Amino acid sequence: VLKQGYNSKAWRCSNRSYSRVQPQASYKVAILGASGGIGQPLALLVKMSPLVSELNLYDIANVKGVAADLSHCNTPSKVSDFTGESELAACLRDVDVVVIPAGVPRKPGMTRDDLFNINANIVKTLVGAVADNCPNAFIHIISNPVNSTVPIAAEVLKQKGVYDPKKLFGVTTLDVVRANTFLAQKKNLKLIDVDVPVIGGHAGITILPLLSKAKPSVTFTDEEVQELTVRIQNAGTEVVEAKAGAGSATLSMAYAAARFVESSLRALDGDTDVYECSFIQSELTELPFFASRVKLGKDGVEVVILSELQGLTEYEQKALQELKTELKASIEKGVAFVQKQA
Ligand code: NAD
Ligand code: LMR
Repeated sequence: VLKQGYNSKAWRCSNRSYSRVQPQASYKVAILGASGGIGQPLALLVKMSPLVSELNLYDIANVKGVAADLSHCNTPSKVSDFTGESELAACLRDVDVVVIPAGVPRKPGMTRDDLFNINANIVKTLVGAVADNCPNAFIHIISNPVNSTVPIAAEVLKQKGVYDPKKLFGVTTLDVVRANTFLAQKKNLKLIDVDVPVIGGHAGITILPLLSKAKPSVTFTDEEVQELTVRIQNAGTEVVEAKAGAGSATLSMAYAAARFVESSLRALDGDTDVYECSFIQSELTELPFFASRVKLGKDGVEVVILSELQGLTEYEQKALQELKTELKASIEKGVAFVQKQA
């Protein structure tokens, strides 16, 4: 089951040539916000990874029980729990990948930016501890608003003198997962074959699925492009409304985050064919951060796939222009938040 789960084409999407049949469990992963709605199912999925030797779970509350529960699964990793700031340093020591889903989720009627006031401080504090204890780790930021929390993390790392832009990632995998699912449903495609790159950022119109670059190649009417694009952009809100006050996407997010963790671990483990979309420091456009497809390697982002922005349709070009104002403002808000406190 494990082998099928993590090596299947469905999980790996466009990544094909990971040759090891039985990878060696040797990587250390920490989840910060591990007893939350995302944290718990994510911890379960990471516990299933054959590449993980140690799984450190951190939260401000309720993490002991989650860790005790998970530790009974007969998979290779050792699970440890850490509660509160006094145990954060120990949680992060020598970790290879840190995943941060800590923070508050949306309720109906809220934008992701409405979470800024609470989550900005949480991300700032946690990334400060990452800088002090595992500065070489890959850092996966899930906490919203991702368009601002990733620049916040970058500024904190810069202030601490340990910023490596190749290792800081805003997790936008859920946008790709959704785009793949919705396109397969709409066009009756086999899910296993579908791969849609999603660029820009992670909020509303800043989420731009490039349907013209979908695999397999599909033809769309203008109405279909509009309908699919808007559904992908509003998919987070679709879940927030369905949960009616009980939070936002947690299970699909955990699935997406676990895929991104597994891709990172495979890259660290020497797989040379790992591609994911992620919100990273970027020179692809004039914006300092931008989500696009990247090749992952042992040192993080190895290559940004430049061809992604070539040959866009008129619809995509216009959408790209339109998203820049909002994305720029969100990035600047994150940078200013850290700089004004310095
Ligand atoms: P949740 O409220 O269920 O869980 C959040 C957890 O964070 C809680 O266990 C809480 O105790 C913990 N926490 C709060 N402050 C903390 C701190 N200082 N240190 C450590 N842990 C702390 O929320 P959730 O549904 O898991 O969502 C978490 C975040 O992920 C939200 O900001 C949400 O918007 C975001 N999210 C992002 C994506 C994405 O695609 N990037 C998708 C879904 C949700
Ligand atoms: C999502 O896309 O599901 C997350 O960003 C959570 C949200 O608030 O929509």
